[in-house]
This record gives sequence, structure tokens and C-alpha cells, in this order.
Amino acid sequence: MALVNIPGGATIRDEAEVTRFLADHGIDYERWMPSHPVDTAATAEALLAAYAHEIETLKQRGGYATADVIDVKPDTPNLDMMLAKFSREHWHDEDEVRFIVEGRGLFHIHPKNGQVFAIEVEAGDLIRVPRGTQHWFDLCVDKRIRAIRLFQDVSGWTPHYTDSGVDKGFEPVCFGPAYVARG
Ligand SMILES: [Fe+2]
Repeated sequence: MALVNIPGGATIRDEAEVTRFLADHGIDYERWMPSHPVDTAATAEALLAAYAHEIETLKQRGGYATADVIDVKPDTPNLDMMLAKFSREHWHDEDEVRFIVEGRGLFHIHPKNGQVFAIEVEAGDLIRVPRGTQHWFDLCVDKRIRAIRLFQDVSGWTPHYTDSGVDKGFEPVCFGPAYVARG
């Protein structure tokens, strides 16, 4: 279940409240328990095949053209360089849609007329951050995420950096149970 850290430091942990808070900021959130358990070692093709029905449903709902898999582990080559592309405030010309299959991660959202809040996503979370939303993304300490991504147009997904420096004021620290457990 996704958790939301709101300005002031409180954490929303109730699914209905998380969904409502995010909807108020234009972000769609659904809990989609992975209904087709896929082995960690399974290929991207196997994962996309297992979720073909769900992907098709999402494509029709949101006008998405393609889907792929992002699969990041602590030993992924050039991991820091890859993560640095997402951890600075940016926006895209199209929606950022992610269905988390494994692992977790941390979105910071910077509303146009509001304060930054954080969403920690984990396996089973489907999230749609609308085009134009200023945001950045970090992994948690376990440096693990496997997610299906949907695109309206692959070229539209290029990050546009704001260079606002706002991201520097926030620690990329996850706040869910796994983080607490690992200290
Ligand atoms: Fe992004």
C-alpha cells in the first residue's frame, strides 16, 4: 500500500485517505495486487505476457501505446547515473504510469500552487502522475524496483528539468515499514 507524507510531516496510511489525497492532486492511485506472481528472475517479456490483460485495460483507459519493464537492482550497472536522471525535479509531456511489481520507491510531488509531498510506492501499487506534474523519484535503501511502465509516446517521456533546486530541500528517505525495519 502506498503511503503519503504530507507537508508538516504527518503520514497518511489509510488506503481510502491516500486515494482521496492523491485524487485531489490529480494523481490516480489504485491498489492492484499482483494477480500473476512472476519470479524475480523472469524476463521482461514474461512479465509483460503475464500482465497482458491488465496492460491492455490500461492502454484502452488512458490511450497508452506501449508498455515496458523497468527492473533495477543494487548491482544494476551505472545505477547511480541512471537514478540521477530521475532524482532532480522534472516533468514530462505525458503521464507517468507505473505498476509496481516488486520493490519500492519514493515520488516527491511538487504541486504548482502547493507544498511538496511524498508518496512511497510498493508492489501492487498502480499510480498515474499526470503530464506536466513537477516531481522527482528516488529508490529506497534496498535499491530495488521492478515496474511496468506505460507510455502514450515514448519520445514524450523525456524529462524536462526545472532546475528549481527544490528537490535539494528533501531527503530521499523512504518512510514505510521496510525502511524502519532496516533502520
Ligand atoms: Fe518522471
